[in-house]
Amino acid sequence: MRFDILTLFPGMFEGPFDESMLRRAVERGLITIAVHNIRDFAAGRHRITDDAPYGGGAGMVMKPEPIFAAAEHALSDARAAGQGGDDSAIVLLTPQGRLFDQRIAEELAQRRHLVLICGHYEGVDERVREHLATDELSIGDYVLTGGELPAMVVVDVVARLVPGVLGAAESLAEESISGGLLEYPQYTRPPEFRGWTVPEVLLSGNHAAIARWRRDQALLRTLRRRPDLLAQVSLTPADQRFLERAREAEAATDASPDPDPETPSTPGLARPQPPERVDPWC
Ligand code: ADE
Repeated sequence: MRFDILTLFPGMFEGPFDESMLRRAVERGLITIAVHNIRDFAAGRHRITDDAPYGGGAGMVMKPEPIFAAAEHALSDARAAGQGGDDSAIVLLTPQGRLFDQRIAEELAQRRHLVLICGHYEGVDERVREHLATDELSIGDYVLTGGELPAMVVVDVVARLVPGVLGAAESLAEESISGGLLEYPQYTRPPEFRGWTVPEVLLSGNHAAIARWRRDQALLRTLRRRPDLLAQVSLTPADQRFLERAREAEAATDASPDPDPETPSTPGLARPQPPERVDPWC
């Protein structure tokens, strides 16, 4: 799969793609990443890429001509290299785009070629949205200084879905968000650290019990942190029974004036102890 990134700040991409999994994927020819400086496609001695908005107002707007020229260059490069160019997605990164998630990443990973346009300043001339971009994506409901970090996020998430990019050890099969649930808790050696022990079941060697515990923990974590995700997951009768008990236990804890997490009414459903450090999920 090929990614072409159009940016005013190509230096920002030195580093993130030169390490770890993405670097290996590039070296193995599984993905190609080309970064283009939009300024190189701007006309005139000053290579101006932005201008004041028509109608007045604060800030500058990115001009359409260099963006169109950079995108057309990327498309013809990809075509010449036999890496797409015909069914390419041209994505504008903008806080006004649809919210990027794993499902959209899976959709994009079906393509051979993605062109990512990093917006900046007060915005991008509307003709880029209307006549060039085939999609607009936001990585979250906050405003970054530009589309570069979002483009890196999109490349990272989509690239790891390309067959062969993940090794067998990191296989997608067990992955939680793509299975619709958040991930169950993971532990490694030692079995006891500063008095905190690993759940007994994980040391038991009972594979069926471990699988059930993991599934239950993933359900519980999703119920507590992202209940909205549960609506999209296909649940077995055992899952449904567990969730029903979990909801009852949560309701009882919420109603109780002095909840005692040491003695949960349902085994395995103890509310976590108050964290010593702030947990961003709480
Ligand atoms: N550019 C600035 N903020 C952004 C966001 N949240 N997502 C995508 N592009 C952006």
